[in-house]
Amino acid sequence: MSDTPFPAGFLWGGALAANQSEGSYLADGKGLTTVDMIPHGANRMAVKLGLEKRFTLREEEFYPSHDAIDFYHRYKEDIALMAEMGFTVFRTSIAWSRLFPDGDELTPNADGIAFYHKVFTECRKYGIEPLVTLAHFDVPMHLVIEYGSWRNRKMIDFFARYARTCFEAFDGLVKYWLTFNEINILLHSPFSGAGLVFEPGENHEQVKYQAAHHELVASALVTKIAHEVNPQNQVGCMLAGGNFYPWSCKPEDVWAALQKDRENLFFIDVQARGAYPAYSARLFREKGVTLEITDEDAAILRHTVDFISFSYYASRCASAEMNEQNSSAANVVKSLTNPHIARSAWGWGIDPLGLRITMNMMYDRYQKPLFLVENGLGARDELTAAGEIHDDYRISYLQQHIEAMAEAIADGIPVMGYTTWGCIDLVAASTGEMSKRYGLVYVDRDDMGNGTLQRTRKKSFWWYKKVIASNGRDLSSE
Ligand code: BG6
Repeated sequence: MSDTPFPAGFLWGGALAANQSEGSYLADGKGLTTVDMIPHGANRMAVKLGLEKRFTLREEEFYPSHDAIDFYHRYKEDIALMAEMGFTVFRTSIAWSRLFPDGDELTPNADGIAFYHKVFTECRKYGIEPLVTLAHFDVPMHLVIEYGSWRNRKMIDFFARYARTCFEAFDGLVKYWLTFNEINILLHSPFSGAGLVFEPGENHEQVKYQAAHHELVASALVTKIAHEVNPQNQVGCMLAGGNFYPWSCKPEDVWAALQKDRENLFFIDVQARGAYPAYSARLFREKGVTLEITDEDAAILRHTVDFISFSYYASRCASAEMNEQNSSAANVVKSLTNPHIARSAWGWGIDPLGLRITMNMMYDRYQKPLFLVENGLGARDELTAAGEIHDDYRISYLQQHIEAMAEAIADGIPVMGYTTWGCIDLVAASTGEMSKRYGLVYVDRDDMGNGTLQRTRKKSFWWYKKVIASNGRDLSSE
């Protein structure tokens, strides 16, 4: 057993998101949301990317979010499992359309508030701190159809009303908030990321960056509101993280990697520093983007986040010769295939040192506490005849990444906590599969929605319980 650099009070836990776990997509007044329109199968990508307009459901298609893993009805059992592992934090999101089914109402749906009140109270019963994302890949469909989603400035006020409702309704239950999940994914998956659907002939960059501006203003505004409602509230931004490595030491490759990093860090630069970065003027000019930014927007942007949260699955790699043919999208962001790192069954890189590199870069850049709110291995699990799951590959992935995070803490970086992704198996955001499993708890459900939904503890469940009990000191797998 090695010593632990994890401070006392370090938050250990796991993460789910409403749209991938709750199901009950129209229960108790909930409205349709973007993810409810994204089918499983061949048409999925075009809809996710905003290239195919889908404003109505099709009978012949299967929509994994509609039932998901039924967290809506099984939250007590699921939170009890988390408590059994010793979680001190549970990250989930609120589905905007449970509180505001259309998104533009003046008053919230009481049933939606009641549901999350029960969930957060259940967490508190076990001493689990909820960490709540306000927007995790779901925008009420009415806002998409009537207003064009985040391309429209009116979204700022709708979102602010929704966020204020959450801060007031859950005051005393929740103090850690995230505004937009993986805000940079708006650029890479515009419909699932931000409800954007493109019209023929449009400059996509213009639409995306104007929408990004509205999200950034909304994020800063709700950060301000969160602090007004309760000065104890702590608000974070959320980046789909992972540094780009240059393919070689050729200066052109190094420059390409720096540019690719900026594409993603642009968002956090604004949220953490309170203004657009110097490089953005040229970026917009070269992309033919002209943003509408008011003086009032610039003033609101100065309300910066309290901490930086991020997901990390793998590092990325770029070269000057990178193009559509030689790159592929692992976790949505396009990258060259780095020959020096291992890969998961879904082709995602496995690079624990990349986590330490990413964390050091982010702290050097922002000097704000970090929170690793997503990390994990999507893998196919097999139930043995005895009903067990021996997921040693997952234990090994998590072990190596927790070790890398420990090194980053030893490097001097303040880290608030760690929530492993999909702590209970859920629907994969990219592919809509159930068979791409991240959980420490297995859920009996297949890609087409068959199964009993029964929960089974995996080998990693017992391992993670020991990790938490020892505050990260004991990472051994035996
Ligand atoms: C992140 C998202 O991109 O990665 C999650 O915030 C997502 O919603 C996770 O599920 C893993 O990706 P995937 O596609 O394997 O589910």
